[in-house]
Amino acid sequence: MRPLIAGNWKMHGTLREAASLAEGVRAGAGGLPADLLVCPPVLHIPAVAAALGGGAVALGAQDCHAAAKGAHTGDISAAMLRDAGATHVILGHSERRADHGESDAVVRAKVAAALGAGLVPVVCVGETEAQRLAGEADSVVRAQLAESLPDGFGGIIAYEPVWAIGTGRTPTEADIAAIHATIRESLVARFGAAGQGMRILYGGSMKPGNARAILALPNVDGGLVGGASLVAADFLAIAAAAA
Ligand code: 13P
Repeated sequence: MRPLIAGNWKMHGTLREAASLAEGVRAGAGGLPADLLVCPPVLHIPAVAAALGGGAVALGAQDCHAAAKGAHTGDISAAMLRDAGATHVILGHSERRADHGESDAVVRAKVAAALGAGLVPVVCVGETEAQRLAGEADSVVRAQLAESLPDGFGGIIAYEPVWAIGTGRTPTEADIAAIHATIRESLVARFGAAGQGMRILYGGSMKPGNARAILALPNVDGGLVGGASLVAADFLAIAAAAA
């Protein structure tokens, strides 16, 4: 399956910087061995959509509300994201689970809303360091998948061990391959052949220097990149390493 390299820009940058980063990504996107997706702060989506110019680089958001509309001050619906030019939305990122107390049930409702609005959800799962040290990584991820994905799910999974995010540390290649195999097995058990075709991204300190080895692992169908996605050359180098 063709890999996807997705950039999660998190809460970084000005409007001008977002547009300029998007232009840099767009300029280097031709001929790469991976599809590209960028997920700027929601406020920057229209400017990034304009900078991408409807070309090959896809555009996503970092969250949405579970309701279609209503009295939810400060929130954004999936339909609003679609209207603004997004085609994807990251949901259940560990930073939202931690900062906003998002449970698996909340994530599942958001994923259903995204699907209903025609967005491709990128659903994040991953264990904390304490859970990994306790030997619980597999069971935690299995439970998150079971509870965060609605019936009829179609979309992308991102495995992001919480302790690898922004730390410069990554699991061993064997550990990444093992948990991606677990995720694949869960998806196929629940969704059948569709689960075989779902992309499973790795996220957590993915850099140009480690991307080639990680992206070569079985059941690693791309990456969800934080820090390194804020520099167009680094993001494009990671995509080039997907060959
Ligand atoms: P880093 O690449 O900065 O570790 O972030 C990963 C991440 O959280 C992407 O969603």
